[in-house]
Amino acid sequence: MNQTTENLSVDKLLADLENHIQRHHYGASPKELYEPISYIMSLGGKRIRPLLALMAYSLYKDNYQDILSPAAAVEVFHNFTLMHDDIMDDAPLRRGQATVHEKWNANTAILSGDVMLVKAYDMLLDISSDKLPVALSLFNQTAAEVCEGQQHDMNFERMDHVTDVAYIDMIRQKTAVLLGFSLQLGGLLADATPQEVQKLYDFGVNIGIGFQLKDDLLDVYADKAKFGKQVGGDIIANKKTYLLIKAKELATGAQWEQLESWLAKKAFDKEEKVKAVTAIYDQLGIKALTEAKMHEYFQQGFEQLKSLKVPNSVNFEILLKLTEDLVNREK
Ligand code: IPE
Ligand code: IPE
Ligand code: MG
Ligand code: MG
Ligand code: MG
Repeated sequence: MNQTTENLSVDKLLADLENHIQRHHYGASPKELYEPISYIMSLGGKRIRPLLALMAYSLYKDNYQDILSPAAAVEVFHNFTLMHDDIMDDAPLRRGQATVHEKWNANTAILSGDVMLVKAYDMLLDISSDKLPVALSLFNQTAAEVCEGQQHDMNFERMDHVTDVAYIDMIRQKTAVLLGFSLQLGGLLADATPQEVQKLYDFGVNIGIGFQLKDDLLDVYADKAKFGKQVGGDIIANKKTYLLIKAKELATGAQWEQLESWLAKKAFDKEEKVKAVTAIYDQLGIKALTEAKMHEYFQQGFEQLKSLKVPNSVNFEILLKLTEDLVNREK
């Protein structure tokens, strides 16, 4: 028998979430500390992580409004990682606007980011006391793993040889575990069984790996007008993405020499490098290879999700559709 009667509308969910995020008071003074928070939180973004939390919850229970604060906490944490990630990646653009370290400066982005992490904990305190220790412990494990992934990502920039296995594990940590945690949190707060919560987590990690593969594809192939980030940033920084790893594996002869020479250059014209490396990717069919890998992970995730028996099958279909749409997103 259905325990839930409320069928979701993603638009309504997003509107409620956005309202909750925008009404939250992060702090006022000194304004140099808090303005960057309002700035990044109001730039939009897909809000996919809190949406996943609210949807996982709605597979089992009505009244997702009860968990808007912890769901929003995940988004605040995500935006904190973006603020610091953009310093680390020397990124000029985020969601179509100047990054915080460009608009203010790096020290401001570091400290505003730090306090965002604290504010995320504040919002998690809304969780009922019986579930709070478990939720916090899972969150802490996730947050540490994100940092571990981010450090590997930076280490890999300076390494000549990174395997695809090491790359997948790096993106699992920096990106996928947070999608996994979002779903896990929703399930946990809705009193799903430990087995169900685990399945939600595994589903999230698999689509999260697919999600980062798509992000890496977009970094090279996105329509600049829609993407909102600098196109080619990963190529400029020698990021060991799946695309570059495969290109290094498959290139031969003059092509291989060209690719290696671009990777070794200390001074270069950014646009020229992006164009040249993209041309090599095109010659080698790297886009199709990466898409195939991305589909593999999304597919594995969808199969895990489909093995879940939930009380509200309408909301299940809505969750499935939302995640399927991530495959074809343009930003
Ligand atoms: C960007 O995340 C960072 C990654 C982990 C790929 P999103 O693609 O979710 O960015 P927003 O929040 O929608 O802007
Ligand atoms: C970032 O990966 C993942 C985290 C922020 C933890 P990217 O560096 O690829 O994300 P974007 O492309 O800047 O959004
Ligand atoms: Mg980045
Ligand atoms: Mg990065
Ligand atoms: Mg990226």
